[in-house]
Amino acid sequence: MSETSLTQPDPVVAEEHELKRTLGPVHLTMLGIGAIIGAGIFVITGQVAADYAGPAVLISFVVAAFGCLFAGLCYAEFASMIPVSGSAYTYAYATMGRFMAWFIGWNLVLEYLVSSSTIAVGWAGYFTELMGFFHIHVPATLTNAPLCVVGDPPPCPHIVDNLTGLAGFFGQFGWTGAYINLPAVLLTLLLTSVLIIGVRESANTNAIMVAIKVLVVLLVIFFGLSHIDWNNFTPFIPPAHDGRYGWPGVMTGAAIIFFAYIGFDSVSVAAQETKNPQRDLPIGILGSLFICTALYIAISIVLLGMAYYPTMSNIPNPVSFAVAKVESLRWLVPIIDVGASIGLASTIFVGLYGQSRIFYSMSRDGFLPKMFAAVHPRFHTPHRGTIITGIAAAAIAAVFPINLLGQLVSIGTLLAFVVVCVGIMILRIQAPNAKRPFRTPYVWFVAPAGIAVCGYMMLSLPTDTWWRLVFWTAIGLVIYFIYGMWHAAPSKWKISK
Ligand code: ALA
Repeated sequence: MSETSLTQPDPVVAEEHELKRTLGPVHLTMLGIGAIIGAGIFVITGQVAADYAGPAVLISFVVAAFGCLFAGLCYAEFASMIPVSGSAYTYAYATMGRFMAWFIGWNLVLEYLVSSSTIAVGWAGYFTELMGFFHIHVPATLTNAPLCVVGDPPPCPHIVDNLTGLAGFFGQFGWTGAYINLPAVLLTLLLTSVLIIGVRESANTNAIMVAIKVLVVLLVIFFGLSHIDWNNFTPFIPPAHDGRYGWPGVMTGAAIIFFAYIGFDSVSVAAQETKNPQRDLPIGILGSLFICTALYIAISIVLLGMAYYPTMSNIPNPVSFAVAKVESLRWLVPIIDVGASIGLASTIFVGLYGQSRIFYSMSRDGFLPKMFAAVHPRFHTPHRGTIITGIAAAAIAAVFPINLLGQLVSIGTLLAFVVVCVGIMILRIQAPNAKRPFRTPYVWFVAPAGIAVCGYMMLSLPTDTWWRLVFWTAIGLVIYFIYGMWHAAPSKWKISK
């Protein structure tokens, strides 16, 4: 039987649209860890334990890790076969056509752009705490989201109670009394400026930030281990009540805590800036996923052992909060706040990076105006797309609370993962003999398992979150039918025999 392979015809864009190939396997693994460890572990874990899963948040972590592992194995095969920028968007384009490509690309905006905003909001919590340590008290009206959702933390004192019709589907909203989350906005704009200067410089900045955040996680594990109170782990799965706890709570917890793993796939977004994508991408994706899973499980055991889970509800900085419970470890608190602030910044950084590259790919394919693919002549970065990404992320971080954003990011990303798992099976049927530098092992088990686990997590998210996803998708469809459908070419990737 003749060899089937994926080929790309002549480049459709001019030389000035090419990116520099500067990244190796260590940079990629660092990029992955940089993208993964963030607000999920530093902020959301405490809230999930308190509000949904109790100590069984450890099971939530394991369920979410399996979903990521299955999807990650499918991502790695795609990334090694189609080593260009664009992640799941490009894979959907190659296997499922224009419409699905747009659909996934639009969901990836949730995964990258909106998650950057989410983490910026989480960052503001640690940063404000840190400022307080130096006796600088930023007014709460300038460090919190003005918008709140009734029933979710933070408290919603001014409820908008005449919200009927369509808007009522998305939840009951209100105002907190704050004006803007200013630290989140300023940080997002600062990181956007660094990204514009260049990816090599950016990758080096990122490597330092990643090292600091991993060090903080290790310090908490190391010093916290001997202060674990195992009584805090009973009941391990608190009895279900009011839509919380019990097995449904553990699964809702998995879907929310899934946020903590998001990012390993951003390694594949860097394909066009990678020296040897066939070898390095799978190393970067799977390596960073394994390292982070081990760190998450360990640090969660320590946190739950130091702070009884109900005490962590609505705490913006649960890691330093839990450590502060132990008198002899209080010296560690400012170090954690500094490290978390730097670490969360690195996660936002990778999110903004990924989004600007996805916009770059979508623009090259005609889904978005050409300006998103314009590369700066000196910096060799897609500067215009980066600026637009940064401003949008800052605007979202300015007004929305972390819970709403985090759940929206999770559901959108889970959907993208399900599509990647479907796509890899389609490709095995369409191009069984194509060259696969990395083959997903046991694909006929792994891909359906990825669909099942990620799908189950999606179903465990609240109905409001589903409606918000529907709303988001509707906006995407309008843009597609007004612009993308008329400008996008058929996929450049052809299956030739
Ligand atoms: N995984 C990333 C975080 O936890 C998105 O912040």
